[in-house]
Amino acid sequence: MNSLLKFITCGSVDDGKSTLIGHMLYDAKLIFADQRRALELESKVGSRNGLIDYSLLLDGLMSEREQGITIDVAYRFFTTDNRSFIVADTPGHEEYTRNMAVGASFADLAVILVDATKGVLIQTKRHTRICALMGIRHIVFAVNKMDLISYDKSRFKEIELQIKKLCLDFEFDSIYIIPVSATEGDMLTKRSDNMTWFKGDTLLSYLENVDVTDDLLKDTGFYLPVQRVCRPDRTFRGFQGQIEAGMLNKGDEVKVLPSGEVALVSEILVGDKKVNTASKGQAVTICLDREVDVSRGCVLYRNVMLSVGSLFDASILWMDDEKLVEGKNYYLKLGTKTVPSTVMKIKYKIDVNSGEHIPAGQIYKNEIARCEISVGSPVVFDEFKNNREIGCFILTDRVTNMTSACGIIRHKLRRDDNIVAYEMDITKENRSAQKGQEPFTLWFTGLSGSGKSTIANAVEKRLFAMNKHTMSLDGDNIRRGLNKNLGFKEQDRIENIRRIAEVSKLMNEAGLIVLTSFISPYAADRENARLIIGEDNFYEIYISTSLEECERRDVKGLYKKARRGEIPNFTGISGKYEEPVSPALTIDTEKISVDEAVEMIVSLVKEKLGI
Ligand code: ADX
Repeated sequence: MNSLLKFITCGSVDDGKSTLIGHMLYDAKLIFADQRRALELESKVGSRNGLIDYSLLLDGLMSEREQGITIDVAYRFFTTDNRSFIVADTPGHEEYTRNMAVGASFADLAVILVDATKGVLIQTKRHTRICALMGIRHIVFAVNKMDLISYDKSRFKEIELQIKKLCLDFEFDSIYIIPVSATEGDMLTKRSDNMTWFKGDTLLSYLENVDVTDDLLKDTGFYLPVQRVCRPDRTFRGFQGQIEAGMLNKGDEVKVLPSGEVALVSEILVGDKKVNTASKGQAVTICLDREVDVSRGCVLYRNVMLSVGSLFDASILWMDDEKLVEGKNYYLKLGTKTVPSTVMKIKYKIDVNSGEHIPAGQIYKNEIARCEISVGSPVVFDEFKNNREIGCFILTDRVTNMTSACGIIRHKLRRDDNIVAYEMDITKENRSAQKGQEPFTLWFTGLSGSGKSTIANAVEKRLFAMNKHTMSLDGDNIRRGLNKNLGFKEQDRIENIRRIAEVSKLMNEAGLIVLTSFISPYAADRENARLIIGEDNFYEIYISTSLEECERRDVKGLYKKARRGEIPNFTGISGKYEEPVSPALTIDTEKISVDEAVEMIVSLVKEKLGI
């Protein structure tokens, strides 16, 4: 077998991951002579009293990496006479879960270390569960530190039983349980005199021979997510990307998603060389024989079943310090596409220990959950069990862009297929033209009592006098009607703002100018409102009056109550307010009068609309 095996090692800090791989490479003579000498020298002052500390081999690699690479996963490449390997090593510090998930998403196989002196621990279960979640189908459990339990066969058998029990929860294609000593080298590359009772292969020989070919992908057809549309001049239009599965020949018929159009392949280029055929893993430029609607994130395919949709059921691993609550908005990256998305519903979280499904309103860092996700525009995907590349995604924070979760698609939600938008004959343009205006939304945000409603009211009067057709949506009013069922918990506020954004969009479509006055304390929700309403129609106006001033004014007496502890989650006191980063306008009512504020807003609108 001369294929490539991509694997990951999983274990906690003292389990001996680095020692295991380091020792295996050393024994298999896979390290360079000078590296070996350095290792011997360094070990004189290392932790094993002059014996070689094999973990230093990988530690050296880690310090190299620490110079400016953000994801703490070290990829080490090595090759034996029988196979090539890439191993992802993830250091065992507190961000371990995140790093492990990143490593696991690339791997075909995982070597999970189990400490023979401790047996199967919670983290063994966690590591196994994350590997399963990330789609790893082949697992090796290396029961390490056998030397510390005198190579005791019966203890190994007990641990083996614990592991087998744990694996009943999953559908791995292969499981290999092997006793080893990473420090002494037993069963790494050589059979062990200390464990003649173990008849299986050594770790290296097992890794050299294990077949990880994915049955599901063996005969699969072709698909390529488009990374870039290349258009150097009017005569040439090529679609660039990496072939994720199958092969493609010149003349083949391909389909385009989401448009559903069909075309023939007129040209395939690898670099600037024309070729007749290309296959999985190659980066190519493809030209088609006719004009089709293709942009980044579209997929070209043949002979595979792919879905297009915007609602699906997914399993996620939550990695953000901030908890997840229903309704929160993120960006979802899937294949080459990034789209706004919302975690609509948390169905349950999964107990890493028992696998039990536990109802949960919120999900904390390192928890695994099942949830329903909706995306702002349809994406091309497949169920993860069929296709790892476009069955998995990450969620990133709308504001910081940090990765909040990684996840896999379980299935499309049926209702997604049963709702079809109806195209009305009278459009937003018709309605606006009839009113003789360009609709837009002025989105006022700021603390309670900052002056949002007062200013919005004055601006509306001014627009009204200019013969504009307007509508005001105000927090206290809407909360007496449409949003009567919502309180002030995080989920409720997210939903409050989402509904207001949807209503504003509808009113804009009716041709109206909308003014909204809501605290809208969370930046991600205002971003979401911007996306719902449309970038070009949305003006965020930050009424930046300080907390001290709002509290001094305390028009409704609410700050006093909040200080007395009578109102929970009161914005500014016991609830957070995230200031806008780049609002269209900032108005501090301590410095600017209402009339001046109206002037500023009206001139902004006139300038943007050219009126
Ligand atoms: S938002 O946070 O969801 O945008 P919204 O603007 O609708 O809030 O409502 C804010 C108004 O509700 C405040 O002006 C105040 O009158 C009232 N209110 C009642 N409880 C709270 C609270 N816990 N935090 C903030 N405002 C509250």
